[in-house]
Amino acid sequence: MNFKLRTMTVEDIPQAMQLKDAAGWNQTTTDWARFLSASPERCFVAEYRGDIIGTSATIIYEGRFAWIGMVIVDKQYRGQGIGTALLERAISFLDSQRVPTMKLDATPQGKPLYEKFGFISEYEIERWMLNRTAKENALKNGPTSIEDVLLIDREVFGADRSGLLRSLAQEAPHLTLVDQQDGKITGYSFGRLGSRADHMGPWVAHNEDVAERLLNLFLLRSSRELIFVDCLRLNPWAVPLVKARGFELSRPLIRMFRGTNTYAGQIRLLCASLGPEFG
Ligand SMILES: CC(C)(COP(=O)(O)OP(=O)(O)OC[C@H]1O[C@@H](n2cnc3c(N)ncnc32)[C@H](O)[C@@H]1OP(=O)(O)O)[C@@H](O)C(=O)NCCC(=O)NCCS
Repeated sequence: MNFKLRTMTVEDIPQAMQLKDAAGWNQTTTDWARFLSASPERCFVAEYRGDIIGTSATIIYEGRFAWIGMVIVDKQYRGQGIGTALLERAISFLDSQRVPTMKLDATPQGKPLYEKFGFISEYEIERWMLNRTAKENALKNGPTSIEDVLLIDREVFGADRSGLLRSLAQEAPHLTLVDQQDGKITGYSFGRLGSRADHMGPWVAHNEDVAERLLNLFLLRSSRELIFVDCLRLNPWAVPLVKARGFELSRPLIRMFRGTNTYAGQIRLLCASLGPEFG
C-alpha cells in the first residue's frame, strides 16, 4: 500500500480528530494542539490519497524520557504495516535526538506492536469510568498558585511537565486541586475536559485520606455525566476508592518502556496517571 509518512501540522487536526473519535478516545483539539506546541516536528501522520489514515505523537520530557502516544490507524487500513511504520518513525526520530528512554501506555491491541520494538512492561493501569447524571456546577475557581505542585510533580512523574500541567490548570481551574496539611502539600490532582468525559489525572496522594478527599472534590467540581480515571493497579487506594463511588472498569492499559528506566518517578504516590497519551 502506497501511503506517505510525514510530520503532522495543525491543518491535520480535524482529520486526526475523526480518527480518534472513531476509536472512541477522549482527546480534544486542544490535546492535539498541546502535542504540536510541546513538540513541533515530533508528531507524525500516515497519508493515503490525501486522507490522514494514521497518527503517532511524541513528547520529550526534559531529555530524560519521551512519551509516545496517539498511535491510531484507521480501522479499514489496519494490519498492513501502517501502525508499525508510524511507530518506527517516532522511535527513529527519538533515537536521533538521543533520548535514552521511551515510554507509553499500551492498549491490549497496541501491546504486540510495541513488544516487536523491544518495549517491556512496567506496570498495569486500569481505566475506570463513572456514568452519572450531569449536574449544574457554577464553581470555576482554582488554587491561587500551582508552582509548588509543579516542583513536586517533577519528582513524582520523573521529569518536568510543567508546561502541560499549566495548560490543564488554565483550561480547567475548577478541576485543579491541591490538598494541604499544616502548610505542606499532601496531594494534588488535575483534570481535563475531554470530548467524552472529564478525565481526572494525575492524581497524587500521600495517604488514603488525601486520595479520598481529592476524588470527592473532583466529583463535586466536575459537572459531566462521564468521568474517566486511569488508576495504577499497584496503588492500594485508587481502585477501591473509585469502585466504592460506582466507577466501572473500562479497559486495561500496560505501561511500557524501552531503554533504561532511570527516571521512574515516585510511583507509590501515584493513584492515577495523566492519561495514556501524555504519561
Ligand atoms: C494498534 C494499531 C495502531 C496497529 O496498527 P496496524 O496498522 O494495524 O499495525 P500493523 O499492521 O503495523 O501491525 C502491527 C502488529 O500488530 C498486530 N496486528 C495487527 N493487525 C492484527 C490483526 N488483525 N490480528 C492480530 N494482530 C494484529 C501484529 O502483532 C502486528 O505485527 P506483525 O507485523 O508481526 O504481524 C491499530 O490496531 C489501532 O489503531 N488500534 C486502535 C487504537 C489503539 O489501540 N492504538 C494503540 C494505542 S497504545
